Amino acid sequence: MIDIQLVREEFPILANKIQLSSCSQSALHRDVKNNINKYIATWENDGMNWELWMEVCEKARMKFAKLINAKTSEIAIVSSVSHAISSIATSLKPKKDKTDFLVSKNDFPCIGHVALSQNNYNIKYADFNNDNLSSIINEKTLLVSVPHVSYYNGAISDLEAIVHHAKEKDSYVFVDAYQSAGQVDIDVKKLNIDFLATGMQKYLLGIPGIAFLYVKEELAETLSPKITGWFGQKNPFAFDGEVVDYAQGAKRFDSGTFPMINGFAADSALDIILEVGVKNIERYLEDLSQFTLDYCEKNNLEIVSPLEPTLKGSNTAIKVDNANFIEEELKKNNILVSARADVIRIAPHFYNTKDDIKFAIDAIKKLV
Ligand SMILES: Cc1ncc(COP(=O)(O)O)c(C=O)c1O
Repeated sequence: MIDIQLVREEFPILANKIQLSSCSQSALHRDVKNNINKYIATWENDGMNWELWMEVCEKARMKFAKLINAKTSEIAIVSSVSHAISSIATSLKPKKDKTDFLVSKNDFPCIGHVALSQNNYNIKYADFNNDNLSSIINEKTLLVSVPHVSYYNGAISDLEAIVHHAKEKDSYVFVDAYQSAGQVDIDVKKLNIDFLATGMQKYLLGIPGIAFLYVKEELAETLSPKITGWFGQKNPFAFDGEVVDYAQGAKRFDSGTFPMINGFAADSALDIILEVGVKNIERYLEDLSQFTLDYCEKNNLEIVSPLEPTLKGSNTAIKVDNANFIEEELKKNNILVSARADVIRIAPHFYNTKDDIKFAIDAIKKLV
């Protein structure tokens, strides 16, 4: 059970604003701010403290592994999801009859940008929610990319079915979990996923600049990252630029110096999520989803998200003609929502209430 009153006190912004923008940026928790300040203090007072900075980033790596039921050795520290998919796309080696890189039409555009920038793949786009999986994933498919939850309308992908078809055709699966991590339970082992990446900015209560890449244990050492650097080596402090000696496991996908301050934010943000528990968050948000869907319907607002709460994440996307205008107007009234193309996304987290949502929808209704 989430004690909403206690929870809300930990997010100072909620005293003045309604923040419903977790699909873009979640609210700042006191502990995250304090940990960021700890980094600043060590920089200001000690000049530098490499040992502590590295230790905190390593702790964040370990906590992220726990979050998705992976081993710590299966996690790389990267800078963004764009970085993660670039690392994977440039490491795999398409063979003569296996060159297809299947991008989901639901994927965030960075996946398509990275795919189209490669010159050794045949890029195909698929609608995994409607296409026939056994015909789109075939012998030619080397890599399938799918978002766990859509950034646009919050739809949850049927990862079990997609992985099942991919494995039948000996294809790899990359899951972009940026819109699910922190709000929808992830178990990479149960799902048998090959690669998964997420940043910290959305439901994970952190900031951009750090992201995590899961690489399945059996795969990591078969791959030679092309996007690399000294932190991806067995011994970065050997200072030998005349050999490439990749680190063991997914650590070989680390590249340059860790994004230290972002690591401090991630370290405490992950503590909060692990303590509250993703399954509790998921249950709480399902209830808010049902309320949002019902209240939108009552107000005759057009929803482009799935109408069944268990098929969607927190985000409810409302179709509007003037999304950016509405986002700006609501901001003037201390309500934070997120516009994307033709929708306004209402994306609560475990610190939001039904009143927050009602207030936001009432305000939207006046502007459509
Ligand atoms: C699902 C998803 N993937 C990727 C991104 C972009 O990630 P990054 O900026 O870390 O490359 C976003 C950003 O909104 C997103 O929602």
